[in-house]
Amino acid sequence: MEANLESVAPSNIVILTGAGVSAESGLATFRGPDGLWEGHRVEDVATPQAFARDPALVHAFYDARRARLDEIEPNAAHRALAQLDLHWPGEFLLVTQNVDDLHERAGSTRLLHMHGELQKGWCQSCGERFAWAGLMGEGAKCPACDDAGLVRPDIVWFGEMPYGMDRIDEALQRCDLFVSIGTSGAVYPAAGFVQTARYCGARTLEMNLEPSLGSFLFDESRTGPAGELVPQWVEELLAAV
Ligand code: OAD
Repeated sequence: MEANLESVAPSNIVILTGAGVSAESGLATFRGPDGLWEGHRVEDVATPQAFARDPALVHAFYDARRARLDEIEPNAAHRALAQLDLHWPGEFLLVTQNVDDLHERAGSTRLLHMHGELQKGWCQSCGERFAWAGLMGEGAKCPACDDAGLVRPDIVWFGEMPYGMDRIDEALQRCDLFVSIGTSGAVYPAAGFVQTARYCGARTLEMNLEPSLGSFLFDESRTGPAGELVPQWVEELLAAV
């Protein structure tokens, strides 16, 4: 039997978003026929080994994705989540796997980019992380130490530890409601958040274009485009505040 989320009055919420939340803004998702990982091998562009082997190729991949941000806008799902963040009186954490800036451009503030951000660089010489706009390329100079050629995109690659895991784990343990939006559930540790939340007593809701790999782990699964489902759900939730 499906849990009735309308009868619940959660106070602490954790939301996880993936590439599907940005799809209606015009960004390609990773998996599927037109996905980014169809055109590129993960091993060629999204591992530390790839960067060591061919930095020009890796920079070109991320430079193109960073440039694309200028052509797109947040959609109704990003805007609804920002409204929820603004008006929700309880604890709230939006964890995104996305490296685009659409959640913050929509107004989200209680936000954590667990896989890094396209618009940040990380100097491998001095360790500093900093905002970055435009092309990075192989010759990029660190604004902190002035070294050139050792700046990488501040993106969590395969084999590296995602950001903010302690904060996320704590929020998952304290939440009453866990909501996953627009993610295939193929990549850990994010794909395991639902299990932590369930184990700690939270209700769980998934909103995705199709049932994700871990769909059976959720109390409720709504299928459809995030741009429609998320604003409806936020309206339901805020009506009860
Ligand atoms: P995926 O491409 O694996 O999954 C995107 C999900 O969004 C799929 O299940 C789609 O069905 C769904 N989807 C597509 N359009 C949608 C829409 N309009 N509304 C709702 N859902 C929609 O992307 P992620 O799950 O985000 O990591 O991928 C996780 C991680 O794998 C990424 O952060 C990236 C990638 O490798 C790194 O680069 C480290």
